Amino acid sequence: MTDRPDPDLNDALMERYGDAVDAPDMPADVRQSLRRMASRGSCRRFQPTPVPDDLLQTLCAVALAAPTKSDLQQRDIVALKSEDRRARLADLVAGQDWVAAAPMVLVFCGNNRRQRLLHDWHDVPFANDHMDAVINAAADAAIAMAAFVTAAEAAGLGCCPISAVRNDAAAVSDLLGLPEHVFPFAGLAVGYPAHPPEIAMRLPLHVTCHVDTYREDGLKESVAAYDVRRARAQPYNRQRFVATFGTSDTYGWSEDKVRQYSQPERAEFGAFLRARGFQLD
Ligand SMILES: Cc1cc2nc3c(=O)[nH]c(=O)nc-3n(C[C@H](O)[C@H](O)[C@H](O)COP(=O)(O)O)c2cc1C
Repeated sequence: MTDRPDPDLNDALMERYGDAVDAPDMPADVRQSLRRMASRGSCRRFQPTPVPDDLLQTLCAVALAAPTKSDLQQRDIVALKSEDRRARLADLVAGQDWVAAAPMVLVFCGNNRRQRLLHDWHDVPFANDHMDAVINAAADAAIAMAAFVTAAEAAGLGCCPISAVRNDAAAVSDLLGLPEHVFPFAGLAVGYPAHPPEIAMRLPLHVTCHVDTYREDGLKESVAAYDVRRARAQPYNRQRFVATFGTSDTYGWSEDKVRQYSQPERAEFGAFLRARGFQLD
C-alpha cells in the first residue's frame, strides 16, 4: 500500500465538507482517532491477504457492543468464511464485480425472530407486529455495521458495505439459511486495502447539521455549490444512463443521484419482507 501523508483532523474535515471546522484542543490519541474517522473512505480493492480469524471475531464482538434498541439485540452477523459461499454471494450482487475479490464478506442481518421466539417461550403475545419491528432491526444492524467499520479501519482494514445483497434478498436469505423474520440488511466486504481511501466530499455541514430546528435556507444554492466543488476535485469517471439523459458538461453529485434514482431500485423488498412474515403497516 502506498503511503499518503496523514491530514490533520481540521484538514481532513475541511477536505470532506469544504467548511472550516476548528476542533478544540484534545489529547493527541483522541485527535488521531477522530482524524482517522474523519478521513476514512470505503474500500473496494483489497490485498489478497486473508483477515485473521481471531481479528474478525474480535471486530464482530466490538461491533455488537454498539447500542441496540431497548437492549433487544436484533442484529446478527453472518461471516462468509467459505470461498464458495462468498463466490455465490458475489454472483447474487449484480453489477458489483469487485465483491468477488474481497478476502472476507460479512452480512449484517436484522433479526426480529429471537424476540418472537422469546414470546413463544414465555407464552406472551407479541404485540408489535408492525413497521417498527423492521425499522428497529434494520437500525440495530446498521449501527453494528457502522461500529464494525470504525473498528476494522482502526485495525488497518478497509471495508465497503453492500446494499446490493437486497437486490435478490430471497436468494441471499436462502444462501445464508435465514429463517422467517430475519433479513439481510447489508453485506460488508472486508480486507487489507490495496490503496489508501479517498475522502469522498460530503454536503456542507450547514446543510446537514441543524441547531434547534430543521432548516432548508439556501439549500438549492448550497447543493449547486457542492456539485461544483466536488466535480472540480472529484469528478465522476462515468455518467449514468447516458442513452437516456445524454452527456452532461456539468455532471455533479445531484445529477448523479437523480439519474441513479430515476430507475426503480429494490421495489420488491417490501414484498420480500412480507413473505418473510413481517407486517409493514
Ligand atoms: C447501507 C450502505 C449500503 C451500501 N451499499 C453499497 C453497495 O452495494 N455497493 C457499493 O459499491 N457501495 C455501497 N455502499 C458504500 C457507499 O457507496 C459509500 O459509503 C458512499 O459512496 C460514500 O463513500 P465513502 O464511504 O467512501 O465515504 C453502501 C454504503 C452504505 C452505508
